[in-house]
Amino acid sequence: MQCFILLFTHMSDGIPELPAYDDAALEKAFAALETQAREAAAGLAGEAALEAFRLEWLGRKQGRLKGLSDRWLKAAPATAKKALGLRFNALKAVVEQLLDSALGASPSDAGLKAEAIDITLAGTRRLTGAEHPITRTMNEIVSVFAALGYSVGVGPEVETDFYNFESMNFPPGHPARDTQDTLVVANQERKPLRDRLLLRTHTSPVQMRTMEQQPPPVRIVIPGKVHRNDAADATHSPIFHQVEGLCVDTGITFSDLKGTLDHAMKALFGSAVKTRFFPSFFPFTEPSADVQISCIFCGGKGCRKCKQSGWIELLGCGMVDPAVFAFAAEKQPAYDPKKISGFAFGMGVERIAMMKYGISEIGSLYAGDMRFLNQFA
Ligand code: PHE
Repeated sequence: MQCFILLFTHMSDGIPELPAYDDAALEKAFAALETQAREAAAGLAGEAALEAFRLEWLGRKQGRLKGLSDRWLKAAPATAKKALGLRFNALKAVVEQLLDSALGASPSDAGLKAEAIDITLAGTRRLTGAEHPITRTMNEIVSVFAALGYSVGVGPEVETDFYNFESMNFPPGHPARDTQDTLVVANQERKPLRDRLLLRTHTSPVQMRTMEQQPPPVRIVIPGKVHRNDAADATHSPIFHQVEGLCVDTGITFSDLKGTLDHAMKALFGSAVKTRFFPSFFPFTEPSADVQISCIFCGGKGCRKCKQSGWIELLGCGMVDPAVFAFAAEKQPAYDPKKISGFAFGMGVERIAMMKYGISEIGSLYAGDMRFLNQFA
């Protein structure tokens, strides 16, 4: 009984009982359904109405065609199945066709279709990123040396005292440590000094990391970020960038250093630029030199930028100190200062970027102001 009631409920959803299976009865039943479908489809407007029509007729679970198939087709005697099937398919084709043409005519859909090919619409403009002037300058410097056969190395920004100082020939307590005001990681007093962590004050520790990893010859440039506990002003920032260079081989001399840096400065600032070398001091090079280039603003005549001297100091360099090779030789015995020699140099990226692009405040490089940055895009 229950089952019958259930069946009866189903039958009330728009699918009448089929009185007989002869042609006339089938014709009448299907014609009635087709009329209903046509009436329902006439004047369908809007996505919701279209979807409701689709669900009512073609819905996979509750659709009327599904109901027809379940109750008329499956229940039919074998002899009537073919005639019933043909009419069923014809009705289905009609309903699908009604839905198609209603879809084509629907105003909302017409709008969508037009939009898909509206070539007058402004495109979506995607802003492409651009290298930050510091990155760009760093890459320019690196590529000058890449063209000379140098490869690129990197190292950690949080460094040990050993790599930043001791192996670079700044012994504990050496006064040269004071020239690089160091930011140290707190609470490490229990560690031996050489293992204590600090923010590297220069890229030179990567010289040692590189030599420990590979025997000579070495030709490497090391771009990177460094930190010093300096007060910020127009030309100083406690975080800045350097490009370090190291060349080690048999028979490397100071002339190689001069020639290499003279070429690099001409490549970076133009072939008219001259270089000159002054004695200086770094614990890890001996002899050491500061390199000046002829003023790129006045060509050497003297101006405000070069404080009337005609020269601008740009980088530090020197021949690798034998004491540094001795540290490297602990891991790579081929760094024997009797057999090999080398030079190293280090330059500040911000300073070079500021000169090349005429930037007067170092802070503009870090402020993230799009009006400034867009000029480099
Ligand atoms: N590390 C030095 C500095 O930061 C620069 C330098 C590098 C000098 C290599 C000589 C050789 O001041």
